[in-house]
Amino acid sequence: MAGWNFNADPTKVPKVNTKYRKIVTRLPVPASAKLFKELERYESRSMHGQMPVVWDRAEDFQVYDGYGNCWIDFTSTIFVANSGHSNRRVIKYIRETLDRRLIHTYTFVSKIRARFLKKLVDMTPSFCEKAFLLSSGTEATECALKLMKMRGQTIARSKTGIISFRGCMHGRTMAVEMLKGDDKSSEWIGYKDPNIFHMPFPYPWLADGRKDAGVFWKSRFKKDIADLKNNGVRFEDICGIMIESYQGWGAVFYPKEYIRELFIFARKYNILVTFDEIQSGMCRTGKLFAYQHYGVEPDLLCLGKGLSGGLPLSAVIGRKSILDLPDVGSMSSTHSANPICCAAGLANLEEIERLDLTRVSARKGALLHQRLKKLKAKFPDNIARVIGKGMVAALIVTDPVTHKPDGRLASIICEKAMQKGLLLVHTGRESIKIGPPLTISNDALLEGISVLEECFAEIER
Ligand SMILES: Cc1ncc(COP(=O)(O)O)c(C=O)c1O
Repeated sequence: MAGWNFNADPTKVPKVNTKYRKIVTRLPVPASAKLFKELERYESRSMHGQMPVVWDRAEDFQVYDGYGNCWIDFTSTIFVANSGHSNRRVIKYIRETLDRRLIHTYTFVSKIRARFLKKLVDMTPSFCEKAFLLSSGTEATECALKLMKMRGQTIARSKTGIISFRGCMHGRTMAVEMLKGDDKSSEWIGYKDPNIFHMPFPYPWLADGRKDAGVFWKSRFKKDIADLKNNGVRFEDICGIMIESYQGWGAVFYPKEYIRELFIFARKYNILVTFDEIQSGMCRTGKLFAYQHYGVEPDLLCLGKGLSGGLPLSAVIGRKSILDLPDVGSMSSTHSANPICCAAGLANLEEIERLDLTRVSARKGALLHQRLKKLKAKFPDNIARVIGKGMVAALIVTDPVTHKPDGRLASIICEKAMQKGLLLVHTGRESIKIGPPLTISNDALLEGISVLEECFAEIER
């Protein structure tokens, strides 16, 4: 999002009227100018810089602005509306809870909380025996750090070190912001946690063209871990490793062999492994959780975003022996297990099962990736790579002359697509990210991709 100003002046754009898209006004809509001015005046600047589209209603895979325009949504807001915007069952369960006149209970018990937790544990892999509920993703990753550190200290007082991967996003609060290892985004903190150690992200393209990629990644892991040791890290003092299941900005998965080596290392030194599935979970990648692509079994998962279909609900889930480490009453939050959020979460989990969203995501994802590869073949100078799995994809955009990553061009494409009735995830980097609700119809998915094609064709011209 950073570093790009979308045009704020209402601009005449060609009218669009298709089965799934409608653009009938200038964009941004002149009548919405007052709203943007008010937000500019009253809200922190940190929330600005978004595409100037006012969301009035969002249903399934479409977004309406109340001024007659309608977009195909390739964002799921931000990987939240996996089961479709305003999913009917989610709304029904929320409404039933509201009609009962129950909107908050703090840690007092509610039936809906028990029903949601049971469903969550029943639906997830067998190591997921217990969960702790929170509101935001960043709270869940903070909580996973706490649990890994507490468990480490049951082994040795000094076992508090955390390893994370450079460039991975785990939230915006202090500890997890430090996990990213990006000096710029965490310089506000003013110091570095001496117990957080960063490994370089194993970008898969480092093995481009190698026939021995498997061997390469195994030895690459050994090298990266040896570098830590050479910098004075004692592996016995590491309590946990935090992994973003794919690196967010470009849906970049780790090489499988790398993750498998990491697990051998973690088990050898009695280190817990957490996968941050906040973005990648809940069927997004064609499996319930993205870590399942690596063929390993972690200790903890962090869930959020698509867990409830739209309300603030996150969770840390894993083995009972870890989840039960904090003493009674020592880990809670005012809005933990809010009954309306739990109602939405329960409905969402039921929808995942009813609609078989894991399988749907794998099937539609195959179509998505096949068409995006065709797009890349058509515009090889502008699209260097198509990355991702299932219903998450990223196009890596390059300057046609220099062949260097081109964030500016990616932003221009996002803006053009918006003017044509398609919403894409604007990353502020050289990637264009695509993550439609998993419920999108095949023809709407193809229509969205054809809009992307139009945008690249116009750029080429
Ligand atoms: C992988 C990952 N972890 C954590 C977070 C933080 O979640 P939240 O914004 O709900 O705090 C995000 C949000 O973008 C994310 O993508």
